[in-house]
Amino acid sequence: MIEIKHLCKDFTLADGSKFRALDDVNLDIGDGEIFGIIGLSGAGKSTLVRCMNLLERPTSGQVLLDGKDLTAMRPKELRQARKGMSMIFQGFNLLMQRTALENICFPLELGGLRGEAAWRKKRAKELLEIVGLPDKADAYPSQLSGGQKQRVAIARALASDPKVLLCDEATSALDPTTTQSILALLKQLNRDLGVTVVVITHEMRVVQQICGRVAILDGGVIQESGDVADIFSNPRTEAGRRLVMPEGKKIHSLPANRQVRLTFNGLSAGEPVISTLAVEQGIKVNIITADTHSIGDETFGEMVLGLPEDETDAARALIYLRDVPGVTVEEVTDYVQ
Ligand SMILES: Nc1ncnc2c1ncn2[C@@H]1O[C@H](COP(=O)(O)OP(=O)(O)O)[C@@H](O)[C@H]1O
Ligand SMILES: [Mg+2]
Repeated sequence: MIEIKHLCKDFTLADGSKFRALDDVNLDIGDGEIFGIIGLSGAGKSTLVRCMNLLERPTSGQVLLDGKDLTAMRPKELRQARKGMSMIFQGFNLLMQRTALENICFPLELGGLRGEAAWRKKRAKELLEIVGLPDKADAYPSQLSGGQKQRVAIARALASDPKVLLCDEATSALDPTTTQSILALLKQLNRDLGVTVVVITHEMRVVQQICGRVAILDGGVIQESGDVADIFSNPRTEAGRRLVMPEGKKIHSLPANRQVRLTFNGLSAGEPVISTLAVEQGIKVNIITADTHSIGDETFGEMVLGLPEDETDAARALIYLRDVPGVTVEEVTDYVQ
């Protein structure tokens, strides 16, 4: 659906020098995906999303939408193509003097989606219905909560029947519960309307919850990309680890006993490995540290265990643990936390 090829973006600074905000970015986002782009503040996320719809012209490289190169289009052709891509923002960007309904009608009035006023109103009402606000047609933005404003902004974004919805920090101004409801809505739109969703965020939980694949952006460079479960359980780059693991981690030495690190890589959630070891094998291990989380119904993360002093028990525990599907076992002498 969206192919980004060798995209670079330089900004010219006040002193005339150049700053490279994006450096050789390559991405391939498929039709119907929910794709995440995650990075810390200043990583270049907003610049990348603005280059995707050519709000910002790339310095070099190509952006293909449905196989057509946006960077090579004439202005009229580009305006047309852009209707296939809509955007929502952290700050909602609603017109304060217009009601919810009028905000949604706005893109329909502009640029070739004219139609009759009555038709526009009907369409806007349908869209309000889709985003779960059928009774807010006449409310002004100041009368709506943050979550409701974002719903109106989503309805407005959908007015042009886009194939792609670009979300730049769309939930970053919302509380956790409202964030959940907006993410659920995005998921629903993806499923029911087949719209491809690109989620740009600094919040890893957002990506974890709705994205299938993710790219990690750091310093204008895509550091790694792949399946969310894969990247989050086993980040391969320093930038990936910084984002995926909470900050301030230190290396701790372990006592002299034997220790093992279990890496959970898609263990079925609810599989009680440690208690089964105790109950079925009669072997008690000591949990030194655990940092696991669930994605869907699978468990990821790691746990460090102290093995029993008894050598036979330790060996039996190892044999048992090595046999659990979705778990990797290695002996360690230190751990990071
Ligand atoms: N118009 C601009 N002129 C100069 N530098 C810019 C401009 N827009 C963004 N930048 C710089 O590019 C980098 C990436 O910015 P941005 O894309 O907004 O990051 P993010 O959205 O990931 O926080 C930052 O260092 C920012 O200061
Ligand atoms: Mg940004």
